[in-house]
Amino acid sequence: MPAISLTVNGQPVAVTADPDTPLLDVLRNHLGLVGTKFGCGLEQCGCCMVLVDGNPEKSCGKAVSTVTGKAILTIEGLGTPERPHPLQRAFLHEQAGQCGYCLPGILVTAKALLDRNPAPSRSEIARALDDNICRCGSHARILRAVERAAAAIRAGGSR
Ligand code: FES
Ligand code: FES
Repeated sequence: MPAISLTVNGQPVAVTADPDTPLLDVLRNHLGLVGTKFGCGLEQCGCCMVLVDGNPEKSCGKAVSTVTGKAILTIEGLGTPERPHPLQRAFLHEQAGQCGYCLPGILVTAKALLDRNPAPSRSEIARALDDNICRCGSHARILRAVERAAAAIRAGGSR
């Protein structure tokens, strides 16, 4: 099998995998980045969302060969316990989640939104998160958390 070169969370990596392997499997099983979750496996729930060149993409149905040379961001690349992203601070503050299974996908999708629109309206946030399902029904707190993070970033607390 050929080696496939990727850039994940700013680091160049090479994996030996069938080119048709879903990106999600490569992230979790080859690279040990288990923050990104498997939900439906059918590109329906959004819990496998990662950023590819800054755009949210469902990694369960995306062949790894289609992202060679592109910058992939997973939840592990968003922040650290010592230096959390404002979205992570805001989600904690709002207690925006119950089981947390949907949150890695929601957080990276929200990051993509705030990177292109630092002052989204509530309906713009809801639209951006339309492909991310939260089975726990935490939507109201998730919307509040994204608004809180946007305000923090605008106030200069980008990291
Ligand atoms: S696991 Fe990919 S969209 Fe559900
Ligand atoms: S917090 Fe449980 S699925 Fe969203």
